[in-house]
Amino acid sequence: MDISVIVGGSAGIGQAAALELARLGSGVVLTYRNHPDEARQTVAQIAASGGRAVALPLDVGEIDTFAAFGERLREVLADTWGANRFTTLVNNAGFGLMAPFAETTPEQYERLHRVLLKGPYFLTQLLLPLISDGGAIINTTSTSTHPIGITTGYSAYGTMKGGLVVLTRYLAKELSPRGIRVNSVSPGVTRTRLGDDAFARHPELIPPQAARTALGRIGEPDDIAGVIGFLASDQARWITGQDIEASGGYDL
Ligand SMILES: NC(=O)c1ccc[n+]([C@@H]2O[C@H](COP(=O)([O-])OP(=O)(O)OC[C@H]3O[C@@H](n4cnc5c(N)ncnc54)[C@H](OP(=O)(O)O)[C@@H]3O)[C@@H](O)[C@H]2O)c1
Repeated sequence: MDISVIVGGSAGIGQAAALELARLGSGVVLTYRNHPDEARQTVAQIAASGGRAVALPLDVGEIDTFAAFGERLREVLADTWGANRFTTLVNNAGFGLMAPFAETTPEQYERLHRVLLKGPYFLTQLLLPLISDGGAIINTTSTSTHPIGITTGYSAYGTMKGGLVVLTRYLAKELSPRGIRVNSVSPGVTRTRLGDDAFARHPELIPPQAARTALGRIGEPDDIAGVIGFLASDQARWITGQDIEASGGYDL
């Protein structure tokens, strides 16, 4: 049976990915940091649809906690599914931070680095023995790494996401002997809680973004989850090392 681990599965894109992977028949382990209730609700929603999910706490910026997380994950896999491996890892946890380049502090830079790049790097390394041969890794990157998505104030955020795009290619190469495919999805502007719930606090930000999008609206978490579900599936068996933009045609 497929089992997916979604890091940052308590909200937005990760939550939608958890629901989509469960819909596709996968068992789900989703992690949360500040929102245990939302994580529990997602688990309950999956259970109500006949699936199976478990929520675990994890701060992806605290690499000293990864070994204990790995042990807890081993127990959950064994207790819930009688398994000692899982098939799909989704490195999705993240936060947004806007600061002009000239004002970005070393603290801001380091916080972004720990959560968006160093965390996924060493968490994936630690979890490698638990990922099945033939499995898949999907990283959530961002259009902030593409020429179309360069926006003032995201130099540090975009730099970390750019590192994750490059890491995706290296992992695709190094893990290919085990048949593990590694890809990333690069969302455009998507309606989530990112940026301290910026779209809920400032709905006036939405129409200008929709106007820059060929398909005429901003993205919803489901739009990205569908791509994650596809990349995890056998339908994507010949795709590895790719960064797939899902932006509705931003700035086309
Ligand atoms: N929304 C967009 O427009 C957009 C565009 C491009 C890329 N992205 C990327 O998409 C990914 C998902 O973001 P989202 O938009 O869905 O935002 P979101 O609704 O705020 O969800 C973020 C998720 O990441 C988790 N998380 C945040 N910091 C964490 C940490 N230090 N350790 C572990 N988990 C942490 C959150 O957990 P808790 O809520 O439990 O704390 C939550 O599950 C991020 O990597 C983001 O950079 C988003």
